[in-house]
Amino acid sequence: MSVHNENIDRKKVTVTSFIKKKKHGEKIAMLTAYDYFTAKFLDRSGVDALLVGDSAAMVIHGEKSTLPVTMDVMVAHTRAVARGAEHALVIADMPFMSYQPSFEIAVTNAGRFLKESYAEAVKIEGGIEMAPTVKRIVECGIPVMGHIGHTPQSIHAFGGAKVKGRKEKSKKYLIESAKALEEAGAFSIVLELVQSDTAAKITKAVHIPTIGIGSGRECDGQVLVVNDILGLYDEFKPKFVRRYADLPPIIEKAAGDFIGDVKSGAYPGDDESFE
Ligand code: KIV
Repeated sequence: MSVHNENIDRKKVTVTSFIKKKKHGEKIAMLTAYDYFTAKFLDRSGVDALLVGDSAAMVIHGEKSTLPVTMDVMVAHTRAVARGAEHALVIADMPFMSYQPSFEIAVTNAGRFLKESYAEAVKIEGGIEMAPTVKRIVECGIPVMGHIGHTPQSIHAFGGAKVKGRKEKSKKYLIESAKALEEAGAFSIVLELVQSDTAAKITKAVHIPTIGIGSGRECDGQVLVVNDILGLYDEFKPKFVRRYADLPPIIEKAAGDFIGDVKSGAYPGDDESFE
């Protein structure tokens, strides 16, 4: 069993210690989180970083894509997660159109995450074309995580979720993008649905940690959506997802037992009532 909850002497993960993990050859484990209680339990488990992903749109709000989620909603989720996270680095995902239109919009919105929701870093999607935006945000003292490969905010442009980095042109673009993002000051890069060999090449080409999702084992770390590993998102299961628990039957049983007790009068008992 792969339990990792050695809370004793755990140090707060900072952007600096996050980067050092690559130098020390320590794999990085990151999960998404969207609320206070999940963040608290994940933090206790020893996870290195919590990403408040814009996947919240789908797995929390039931939308069909990540596009509809707004800054206000993401700020509220991030604030809840940051309250629950004592050790893990908290990274807020910048929603669609919160950074693409201009440097000013990007910096203002990235700043909101640090000011209003205690995030310690932000994540933005996009390759070499986003490097100037990353540079501008980083210049304002806000750490930025990049995200290349399949970038879900471009789902309509891509025409679906497809593996990237198979063809020479795509491989070259991804490697150049990773280098440009590093040069712009990004402290880490998520590689989503990148063909494994290409992901390995990118990982070797940059000094900052690469965090893979569906991108093979050579990345410096891995990220998964928490609802996926707990079996809480059953609309579809991508090939790269590993389910570590199946919570729906447990939730349904607990709720069913409660309903049964209410209907039969078994709840509340004397010790659950006040004289
Ligand atoms: O929004 C998200 O959950 C993400 C991860 C899949 C990397 O961006």
